[in-house]
Amino acid sequence: MHILLMGPPGAGKGTQAAELVKKFDIPHISTGDMFRAAIKEGTDLGKKAKSFMDDGKLVPDEVTIGIVRERLAKDDCKKGFILDGFPRTVDQADALQQILKDLGLSLTRVLNINVPAEDLIERAVGRRICKKCGATYHTKFNPPKIEGICDVCGSELFQRADDNADTMKNRLSVYEASTKPLIDYYKKLDLYTEVDGRQAIDKVTADLIQVLQG
Ligand code: AP5
Ligand code: MG
Ligand code: ZN
Repeated sequence: MHILLMGPPGAGKGTQAAELVKKFDIPHISTGDMFRAAIKEGTDLGKKAKSFMDDGKLVPDEVTIGIVRERLAKDDCKKGFILDGFPRTVDQADALQQILKDLGLSLTRVLNINVPAEDLIERAVGRRICKKCGATYHTKFNPPKIEGICDVCGSELFQRADDNADTMKNRLSVYEASTKPLIDYYKKLDLYTEVDGRQAIDKVTADLIQVLQG
């Protein structure tokens, strides 16, 4: 099961990837998560990525494609993967085709979680993430049992630096200009399926699983 999870910022890619990991036991590969881990560790990759992310712009393709190429070459990806947030440009999509070809792999399905722009800012601004285990919550749509504390591991929750209304506006326009064209790209390859991301979290999960197992 080699899955590509697409959708605008805040659509629910990370939330749904966590459910698909439980269901299919394959690795979740999020370029955004990889960049945030690198920033936290203070590596060269983190230094390169930080200013772009803080502005809601894309990290340059040559940086991003390299880290995905390295990650997909690891053994655990042979049984499958869930790619989240990559590709985001046509050049990245072309590079992915080449990387998969070199590895003898191919995509099972491209799933787009479709959520209208007017809902996305609220989703991002209300998002809270566990410092320790990365579990994702929402102050209104998916609140933890105790405010500010992770249900899973009891650690403190934090808010991402780019989850404010201003940066979200940039992220949404970058999505429209650079990433949306990938919908046609994957339609042409006959890999594309859209799921209604306005539904409740568990309903979206059920739809995704149905597409993958149907
Ligand atoms: P990245 O981390 O990938 O951010 P994103 O694409 O903007 O997506 P998000 O992580 O914000 O949203 P999500 O879809 O995962 O939603 P979530 O499940 O958390 O990228 C960040 C930055 O890194 C980019 O801006 C760029 O700078 C850089 N970058 C990353 N990849 C790159 C690439 N390939 N090339 C270049 N640069 C790259 O859910 C959001 C909230 O909504 C949560 O609070 C959740 O609880 C809630 N929610 C989820 N589902 C529902 C539902 N069904 N109903 C109600 N609420 C819901
Ligand atoms: Mg995410
Ligand atoms: Zn936690």
